[in-house]
Amino acid sequence: MSKDLLSEIDQDHFRERLNKYTRKAFQLIPRLEKPRILDIGCGSGVPTIELAKLSNSEIIGIDINQTLLDKLNRKIEEEGFSRRVKTKRCSLFEIDFPNESFDVIWAEGSIWIIGFDKGLKEWRRLLKPNGFLVVHDEIKNISNKLNKISSCGYKVINHFSLPEDAWWTEYYKPLEIRIREIYMKCKNNSETFKILRKYQNEIDMVKRNPKEHCSAFYIMQKS
Ligand SMILES: C[S@@+](CC[C@H](N)C(=O)[O-])C[C@H]1O[C@@H](n2cnc3c(N)ncnc32)[C@H](O)[C@@H]1O
Repeated sequence: MSKDLLSEIDQDHFRERLNKYTRKAFQLIPRLEKPRILDIGCGSGVPTIELAKLSNSEIIGIDINQTLLDKLNRKIEEEGFSRRVKTKRCSLFEIDFPNESFDVIWAEGSIWIIGFDKGLKEWRRLLKPNGFLVVHDEIKNISNKLNKISSCGYKVINHFSLPEDAWWTEYYKPLEIRIREIYMKCKNNSETFKILRKYQNEIDMVKRNPKEHCSAFYIMQKS
């Protein structure tokens, strides 16, 4: 996909509208002096940058997609966080940091890749004693997930769901407006049209059933 088109769509601009929930989740963990945070599946780092603004933390963002990490690296530089926010290309299936390296693990939109209980179990060793794991995941099976948290060696500190229409009103609806604007400008370009169609298909899926695309945060502590 051309870089120009990507920056014109600028999904991060809409993703940032959901940062209020990242802030809410962060405020639910006790105040930590200079926490070391691992952001798993950080992507282009919308939550990563927000976390850096929220505390004097040292953050490592890991993701498998180097293009997204490059985008995050540019933001880190622009925001002046180069000293304390770093990225590393690495699969969440093969995280090779030593045991008890982090005060907080943050995972928005990524635990489904490994599976909820497997993620909880495998990532536990990376947390310092009494460290915190914050997961933002799809809304399905909340009570089942709360049980899994306890059986995987954590205690639930808190959990909350986003409003049912949050992803639609804050992200997909404005994204659809942006996609239409770009389409009107370049409707004769078949390559661009194909890319925009892919975005529109995802938007249509959410539009058909916005409640299915709701999500929840789980804030837990290693026990
Ligand atoms: C839904 S995005 C979430 C991005 C970011 N955390 C956010 O909330 O905006 C999921 C991220 O997981 C990353 N990902 C997918 N498979 C992965 C893997 N095996 N290891 C590490 N990251 C992976 C994708 O590249 C993508 O950036």
